[in-house]
Amino acid sequence: MDNLIDDFAKINSLDDPTNVNRNSSRLPGFHQLPLNERVEVVAKSSGLTPAEAKQLSGEDGLNGHLTDIFIENAIGNIALPLGVATNFKVNGKDVLVPMAVEETSVLAAASHGAKLVRLGGGFQATSTEPIMTGQIQLFIDKPEYCEKELIENSEALIAFANKGHQNLVNRGGGAKEITWRYIKEIKSMIVHLHINTCDAMGANIVNTMCEKVSVMLQELFQCEVGLRILTNLSDRRLTKVTCRVPKTAFESKEFRGSEVVNKIISAYQFAYYDIYRAATNNKGVMNGIDPVVIATGNDWRAVEAGAHAWCCRSGKYRPMAKWSKDHNGDLIGEIELPMSVGTVGGVTKLHPTAKAAMKLLGSPNATELAEIICAVGLAQNLSALRALASEGIQRGHMSLHKRNLDLLIRKGATRS
Ligand code: MEV
Repeated sequence: MDNLIDDFAKINSLDDPTNVNRNSSRLPGFHQLPLNERVEVVAKSSGLTPAEAKQLSGEDGLNGHLTDIFIENAIGNIALPLGVATNFKVNGKDVLVPMAVEETSVLAAASHGAKLVRLGGGFQATSTEPIMTGQIQLFIDKPEYCEKELIENSEALIAFANKGHQNLVNRGGGAKEITWRYIKEIKSMIVHLHINTCDAMGANIVNTMCEKVSVMLQELFQCEVGLRILTNLSDRRLTKVTCRVPKTAFESKEFRGSEVVNKIISAYQFAYYDIYRAATNNKGVMNGIDPVVIATGNDWRAVEAGAHAWCCRSGKYRPMAKWSKDHNGDLIGEIELPMSVGTVGGVTKLHPTAKAAMKLLGSPNATELAEIICAVGLAQNLSALRALASEGIQRGHMSLHKRNLDLLIRKGATRS
């Protein structure tokens, strides 16, 4: 194992000799190491203390005391395997990605997808401001009068929402805008309050501000107030990730590279026009996204809800990632999703394993974390479509599955 750590040093000095802290996510041979040595490698690469390494490996993690604080009626914890996906380069920066998931071959697929994308320079990511949206429902019969009042009072409503949130406002966050839609079928004016939540996922702040502003709205319109809650379709908090894979990367004994590129594009088109295939395709994307969201202590139900609703925004359910080719015949991938994840608040900083996982990721801010997560979703989809469109999914998946089962049986045999 010492060799692998030495390799790290070598790779790092080759990558960027002036930046000693920058680690490479290329770890050839990593998967062949025993589990405890893998922990040692990633701990060294990301500067984890021995205590943090134990929290990452689960030797020391969520304890009964914290569990009892997190949820009601707690009786214990259920563990999930935690792995590290290798080969990721996002916006020029290498990153080792922690993923919590029980499914065989997800980690291998993510790492393989990232390795292919690396050949084209890695993932390129951009994001909007971290704007979350809250909804306030007002039961109103005459929307015309109401609209005029909303326009006139927008600034006052925003100022009222921000009262008492000076720290957030000082950091560039806080309520920024108010929009509204009238739904005549339910005689409801739906007021949307758009809030920059900075590095927080923001559910608490959004709900608090919505409840507060609803009081002012009720006084203004003398109406009944309905629901006051954030929407998980956070379509003003979007992350877009693109990649290019040279067609030569797909060359094998069985297939020409250009053939595989065309098959991947055709698999994407199948998902575009068929909701049954789109559901499975998107499950594959979430195979990449959810495990990182979980490993970092974020709300994976919120991310799931937002991602699926976003895919339906045209009225038809579509695949999350798009695949096409450039003038050279190289594969071009793109994914754009709402990504409401945070690095402060929630359990991110309280769950010991999530905290160590964040350090392993290089302590990204919320936007950088969102970009890494979307890159993993894109890599996962690439690997799945490449396998499905060429040799089929079962060859790789089943060989890994069989290896895992064999290991389990052998372990069981030595115990009994
Ligand atoms: C299995 O967990 C995920 C896949 O079904 C995704 C896909 O079909 O694209 C392989």
